Amino acid sequence: MTTATRGTAAPGAVGTGHTRIEGRDKVTGAARYAGEIPFGDLAHGWLVLSTVARGRVVAVETGPVLGMPGVLAVLHHGNAPRVETQYVGSLGPPDPVVGLFQHDRVPYAGWPVALVVAETSEQAREAAEALQVRYETEPHDVGFHPEHAAAYTPESVMGQPNEAVKGDLEAELAASAVVVDERYGTPEEHHNTMEPHAATARWDGGRLEVVDSNQGSRWVAEELAHLFSLDLASVRVRSEHVGGAFGCKGVRPHQVGAAMAATVLDRPVRVVLTRRQMFSVVGYRSPTTQRVRLGADPDGRLRALGHEAHGVTSKLFEFVEPSAGFGRSMYAADAHHSVTRLVPLDVPTPTWMRAPGEAPGSFALECALDELAEKCGVDPIALRERNEPAVGPVSGLPFGSRNLLACYREGARRFSWADRDPRPGTRRDGRWLVGTGMAASTFFVGAAPTTAAVTAEPDGTFTVRITAADVGTGARTALTQIAADALEVTPDRVRVRIADSDFGQAWLAGGSMGTRSWGWAVLLAARELRERLALGGAVPEEGLTARSDTSDVLAALAQKERHSYGAQFAEVAVDVTTGEVRVRRMLGIFAAGRIVNPLTARSQLVGGMTWGLSMALHEEAVRDAASGAHVGADLAGYHFAAHADVPRIEADWVEDTDDEDPVGIKGIGEIGIVGAAAAIANAVWHATGVRHRTLPIRPDRVL
Ligand code: MOS
Repeated sequence: MTTATRGTAAPGAVGTGHTRIEGRDKVTGAARYAGEIPFGDLAHGWLVLSTVARGRVVAVETGPVLGMPGVLAVLHHGNAPRVETQYVGSLGPPDPVVGLFQHDRVPYAGWPVALVVAETSEQAREAAEALQVRYETEPHDVGFHPEHAAAYTPESVMGQPNEAVKGDLEAELAASAVVVDERYGTPEEHHNTMEPHAATARWDGGRLEVVDSNQGSRWVAEELAHLFSLDLASVRVRSEHVGGAFGCKGVRPHQVGAAMAATVLDRPVRVVLTRRQMFSVVGYRSPTTQRVRLGADPDGRLRALGHEAHGVTSKLFEFVEPSAGFGRSMYAADAHHSVTRLVPLDVPTPTWMRAPGEAPGSFALECALDELAEKCGVDPIALRERNEPAVGPVSGLPFGSRNLLACYREGARRFSWADRDPRPGTRRDGRWLVGTGMAASTFFVGAAPTTAAVTAEPDGTFTVRITAADVGTGARTALTQIAADALEVTPDRVRVRIADSDFGQAWLAGGSMGTRSWGWAVLLAARELRERLALGGAVPEEGLTARSDTSDVLAALAQKERHSYGAQFAEVAVDVTTGEVRVRRMLGIFAAGRIVNPLTARSQLVGGMTWGLSMALHEEAVRDAASGAHVGADLAGYHFAAHADVPRIEADWVEDTDDEDPVGIKGIGEIGIVGAAAAIANAVWHATGVRHRTLPIRPDRVL
């Protein structure tokens, strides 16, 4: 079902499965990650994090530690270089955690208070663990609940209005024959990338050079330039291979600490975070509570869609997990009201985590729709079809392309949905109760200004240079395919070089906008180069280069509601004696534009769905009210789906295009997780007849 290649004489790399270009290097160990690239004269930094949840640092007892073997320096608020934190970067002001050691305040447990630098990583660690830091403590508050006195309503989320109102919600609810009014909850969740954050910084001829693991080397370079008051030209950031990112790999304390120590010691310094440290310094997904109110006519036609979410932020900085926004583009209703409120606490600031907003928001709304379907006696797919909008339900804007109905149809066919008995709690398989469920999925489609350069080399090959990031998704391979088609050559003649801030302005691997933004820029530059070559342009010794910048084409795009869509299906079995939930099958059918590389695209989608399974059944970071810190901040305490938990997962797609984008793609980084947890929760209800509105659906909650 992959979309065919458009265009005239294209050789057709796009739409064909290609293994990752760097795949062999990765599986043989030849690919080097940021924490393992050799540097001469390298020193190692180890972060020390606060053990109290609020107060101030009274003393950092550096004396004894400076006498330990190999120790070179201990940086803390009393001696660290000053950095500039009052700036607005391309994605807003920085999380204050990157203003490393600038004051003695401790705003939460796990706040960086010192960096111990030594000749070896082991020496740095030993000294860091021996370092005595004395604190003056103050009472802290880490208790999240929606009735918290400090709860407030943020104005906007990433420049978009936080609250959306259409019609009179209360009046439509009052006029509704059927009403669902329920509360849903999701816990604090963490990214836990396979590769922890790592950076090496050094000064090279007046230039700050950083080898890092990030989602956007240009972005991180810009942030470091702001922090250290440098020209952007005086900062170079590279990030060749990245072992997962999911929103947590921007500028973080590891790059800042490494750069500070490299400045102080005038030698290269590496800082690698431990998994335990990642729990407090790289962000996480806010816990949510969500109240969904749906009002409908007896046939399930929606009159009212109300979604009020609460999340946390730190007392230092506002970050909104915009959970309430999910339904705004999904369902027609006479009245809509959606808003996300925040409770500021003595906790680290949350950040973007795969499908920020949509992941928890879809859990609540897609479960509520299932409850409405039950109350109306309407099939869950029929209910959704009945509320399919012709234009953006709140915005009134036309849709770019919306092939959600095709996803329902194809998904229902492959999942044999027509044979489903809607009655809950009636199917037994030995000690298991068995059920099926579905949910809808969506994610916005965007593109951001990006530059690219494509060079024809004298030997007949081509080199693409773009500050893209391949966070493990196969972006490098997809860009090679796009460039090859645009140049009308086979992919083996194209070399794509990425993740070097010197290659110029580019969007980052985020918002599911990476490959779309980069692919567009690569396509424009490659096409121009091909035209110049067709006109008889000779290739000089240094190569012939064409450059692109998508700023103007993107600014000229018509205002539309652009989204990708999907339908998620799950079958579960619930052990009635132990409360264990096993997912037996998942199917996701997506309408996500043209699929550049079916092989890596399927992996992306299956990966997102796997995470949805993990979200539904396993993931939960627990904070101890007394200490203000996590309980079990590691992979023993923080459970996620292991191989034995993951069943056969199928992901596929229907024909879909975005005709305004010459590449025709929509982005698939995030949509796979959206709706997956709801499909599982709905299946658990179908199996048992019990609604689970709080994630994860642990055995003790099932019993
Ligand atoms: Mo993603 S949460 O946009 O890195």
